[in-house]
Amino acid sequence: MSVTTEAVLETLRTIKGPDFEGDIVSLGLVSDIFIANSKVFFSVTVPADRAQALEPLRAAAERAVKAMPGVEGAVVALTAEKKGGGMEAAPTAPPRPAAPPRPVPAQAAPAGKQRAKAGVPGVEAIIAVASGKGGVGKSTTAVNLALGLAANGLKVGILDADIYGPSMPRLLGISGRPQTVDGKILKPMENYGVKVMSMGFLVDEETPMIWRGPMVMSALTQMLREVEWGALDVLVVDMPPGTGDAQLTMAQAVPLAGAVIVSTPQDLALIDARKGLNMFHKVDVPLLGIVENMSYFLAPDTGNRYDIFGHGGARREAERLGVPFLGEVPLTMDVRESSDAGTPVVVSDPQGAQATVYREIAGKVWEQVKAASAASAAAAPAIVFE
Ligand SMILES: Nc1ncnc2c1ncn2[C@@H]1O[C@H](COP(=O)(O)OP(=O)(O)OP(=O)(O)O)[C@@H](O)[C@H]1O
Ligand SMILES: [Mg+2]
Repeated sequence: MSVTTEAVLETLRTIKGPDFEGDIVSLGLVSDIFIANSKVFFSVTVPADRAQALEPLRAAAERAVKAMPGVEGAVVALTAEKKGGGMEAAPTAPPRPAAPPRPVPAQAAPAGKQRAKAGVPGVEAIIAVASGKGGVGKSTTAVNLALGLAANGLKVGILDADIYGPSMPRLLGISGRPQTVDGKILKPMENYGVKVMSMGFLVDEETPMIWRGPMVMSALTQMLREVEWGALDVLVVDMPPGTGDAQLTMAQAVPLAGAVIVSTPQDLALIDARKGLNMFHKVDVPLLGIVENMSYFLAPDTGNRYDIFGHGGARREAERLGVPFLGEVPLTMDVRESSDAGTPVVVSDPQGAQATVYREIAGKVWEQVKAASAASAAAAPAIVFE
């Protein structure tokens, strides 16, 4: 049985609007609906400042549509209401918040500070993939960026810094335990030509992980320093959501060549993205750029492009902040399904549109890494020959 737009709308009429007034269809909050291969895609518009609180509404809409006969999947996104001039209407975070209470920037020596830290032997550059908010596609971006860098000829490793919710074993289709070298140093796991270390290889999925801040830090530093990474051009670090201990540890304990910020197009996600930007700014980690994920929708049947999520927000924000814009990754069923199958698009469909996007992003990231390292080398004292 094939699903119709009318049937989806009929189902969505059972979903109450914010504040339980009316329903989301009558209130005009539902975007155009796309149906392809029995999968349904649409967005629901909500006020930007209430997006987090209205997550249950999104989830309810998705559940209701998924439960319809003939529907195989549903992807529902919240889109922030644009007031007046779009981005300008969003409350702007101060570019540099007042001095944080943490002792982090105490040793603030602006230029070259990151360089001065002990690196990981053999690893040329370490880059963090982060966001201010969860679920925007950091891990998906990190894995495809890493594979894109490898496809561009670099030696690449991935460190899954999400101690609570590691993604890399599943995304890369790797299971089993890493071997140890002389009982202490761990050998990284490997697939598709990249080396990987993740808490997921060390702890059973069922084990409850009640890690405290300090334990998170030591787990991370161990995965960085007590792993036989060998010679790598670049180590890509998939950050957990937020701007907490793990980010600070990474920024403080290793000389990060820079950070890539992932954001979805919605204004509200960008507000969160700014938190991520500010956090790295505070600890003097160069920003390599912003990636807009789930930027637009590519219909699987026709390949047509639809801008249902207000795409372009991240590009504008990057321009405003003077941070490089790295690229737009479409929302596609392929990205999700190939991730779940442990074969990221860059390796499962290397000729496809998404793989091309990721390889281009990888190229730009590498350019930025080079530029950042040249800038910090220039900041170091010059050697003068008489
Ligand atoms: N471009 C895309 N198209 C379709 N699905 C995507 C895309 N990017 C990410 N997803 C899907 O969105 C979900 C969240 O992605 P992912 O796990 O990468 O986010 P995250 O930011 O790492 O989340 P967390 O904050 O929990 O670590 C996954 O199911 C993933 O497959
Ligand atoms: Mg993740």
